[in-house]
Amino acid sequence: MEFLQPATANPTDRQQVLGHAHPRIEGALKTTGTAHYAYERQDVTGLQLVGYPLGAGIAKGRILSMDTAAAEAAPGVHAVITTLQMDPLPKHKNNIADLFGGSRIHHYHQAIAVVVAESFEQARAAAQMIEVEYRASHLTDFDLAAAHDKNPDKAGKTLSRVGDFDKAFAEAEVTLDAHYRTPAQSHCMMEPHASIAEWRDGKLTVWTSTQMVAWTQKALARTFQLAAEDVRVDSAYIGGGFGGKLWLRADAVLAALGARQTGRPVRVALPRPLMMNNTTHRAETYQRIRIGAGRDGRIAAIAHDGLSSNIPGGHGENPVDQTRHFYAGANRLMTLRMVNLDLPEPNSMRAPGEGAGMMALEVAMDEMAEKLGMDPVEFRAINDTQVDPENPERAFSDRHFVRCLREGASAFAWADRNIVPGARREGMWLIGQGMSGGYRKAAVMKSGARVTLRADARVLVEADMTDIGTGSYTIMAQTAAEMLGLPLDAIEVRLGGSDMPVSSGSGGQWGAASATAGVYAACLCLREEIARRMGNSDPAALTLSDGQVTSGDKTVPLAQIASAGEITSEESMGFGALQKEYLIATFAAHFAEVAVHVATGEIRVRRTLSVCDAGRIMNPMTARSQVIGGMVMGIGAALSEQIEVDTGRGFFANHDLAGYEVPVHADIPDQQVIFLDTEDPAASPLKAKGVGELGISGAAAAIANAAYNATGIRLRSYPLTLDKMLNRLPAV
Ligand code: MOS
Repeated sequence: MEFLQPATANPTDRQQVLGHAHPRIEGALKTTGTAHYAYERQDVTGLQLVGYPLGAGIAKGRILSMDTAAAEAAPGVHAVITTLQMDPLPKHKNNIADLFGGSRIHHYHQAIAVVVAESFEQARAAAQMIEVEYRASHLTDFDLAAAHDKNPDKAGKTLSRVGDFDKAFAEAEVTLDAHYRTPAQSHCMMEPHASIAEWRDGKLTVWTSTQMVAWTQKALARTFQLAAEDVRVDSAYIGGGFGGKLWLRADAVLAALGARQTGRPVRVALPRPLMMNNTTHRAETYQRIRIGAGRDGRIAAIAHDGLSSNIPGGHGENPVDQTRHFYAGANRLMTLRMVNLDLPEPNSMRAPGEGAGMMALEVAMDEMAEKLGMDPVEFRAINDTQVDPENPERAFSDRHFVRCLREGASAFAWADRNIVPGARREGMWLIGQGMSGGYRKAAVMKSGARVTLRADARVLVEADMTDIGTGSYTIMAQTAAEMLGLPLDAIEVRLGGSDMPVSSGSGGQWGAASATAGVYAACLCLREEIARRMGNSDPAALTLSDGQVTSGDKTVPLAQIASAGEITSEESMGFGALQKEYLIATFAAHFAEVAVHVATGEIRVRRTLSVCDAGRIMNPMTARSQVIGGMVMGIGAALSEQIEVDTGRGFFANHDLAGYEVPVHADIPDQQVIFLDTEDPAASPLKAKGVGELGISGAAAAIANAAYNATGIRLRSYPLTLDKMLNRLPAV
């Protein structure tokens, strides 16, 4: 079915199971180690071999020769498969860089061989014995590439232009023109990219860790020139993705190659350095933001120019998109420019676009508020808009950003903050508070599900949906329970198999709203069959509650209906119409308090608060985890995360969790999340929107603004490391 009209009253409004905090229904499996992730799947028949990948040692060029004699003779080795043994494998449209095959190297640590052996250690040892000769040359220096770019459109491509920015900016009473920089970042999910592959009668099964089962199935079919139905993908549990597991990666391809050659199941996990250099990353950005306003604080002109890096045909970071829609202002100009670098493929990382763009925009808003002598909360509030500023005919479906600001300011005791930067000190620590706005589009994708009412009145929900640690299992179970009037523990959910109905998958914070809509659709069909069995053709006249079905004056237990034979319904929900009619997005206000050491410049986060407007919240517990996780990534983005490019060798040098510093528990203080109790009927039948990426969107800027408030040092280049603070700290 299609979601064509804003949702009206429906069974999910009852909120007996939905809307309540439930721990993850698969939580016990995870905490007891019995949820088997891709690399440790127990349902693989046959004795497994282990593949270890070898990555290219150059950033760009060609392989002249590979000597595999020593590796082949090493103990336990069953196969050495090199990229020279085949033409480049065909790739699916989602993959930009080649995954395997041929002699050309497009980026450092591109997979060039896999050694298959009895044990991991044997495979790893033999992989080091492969001798490779290259011819190499590359350009991986962003500044150099930007300076020497032959692109005639140096100003960047105009993404949107409304009114006359130049004129309005020139005439504005108060203006800001500032440049910002965000570094390349890596997803650094805990579970590596990992797969086990098995071939049987020309058919391929891959147990893998992916956010998108159907895309992976299609991509594998293309790579190995198989019909899609001859590829089975299973991704039941995933230890984090953040956009890094949206696409087929080399682990699955190498496992399939190894299994095909040895005739045995082969498992391959990407070692941490290959996760960073072989897969995708968030590209670095330069951003220029210009804002012009009247003394009353109303924005008259706003321009955002983005510059990012790419590989040809790829998707570098677009940091300007949110600026098109977030704040009011009649005269607007957004541009984007890409330069090509010989780095691995830039691609989606948590809140692609907003994740980097709001790190700049929300500092610019803070700077502008200061120039105007306005409270940054007030400055944002008076520039709120209920319509798309690019097209006032198109309204936001449901936007309560100002409420986020007000409720956040109140809960954070914003009114008590010190407004003179650098003026509050506690011992050796300068204390500052900062805030930011958060904005992230609320995408949705067509999503299907199969729901089976069994003879014992228990219900099975199946979809190829993934749970990347977000709570999909739980909210899909809650949806079925609500729709069928059953307790949560009557619902069993199976996810992640390509033999299940195609769902939205997990990405772009679209999973929660889309996948539950698919369950809703399948349950509506199931209710039709239940109505028929009740002798009533109108399912709307049906009440399902407490395991009972009521139709007219007849009430029977659901188990009695099911005892006449189990009922299976499969349906999907398609979206589109309302996304065109309305601008549908999620909103937040983030607040942070930091302490900056007066002598060392060390920044410690003391507390954070995010107030979120994301429609109806299906499970406040799992949703909260999403938001605090996003804020943790925001803290990492603000203070430590930065891929260091070795421009000499053309690779990401800090390619492990020792060198690429993500926050640890000791870095994370008290975090609070408040959800506004809103409903967005245009977003989904459940009136809900995703929240997974809202938490990071703007979060880093709240930290940066707090650091400014603490010290009076305005940093426009992330991360805010000590070296950038050290010589500028106020004398105390
Ligand atoms: Mo997301 S960055 O689409 O997982």
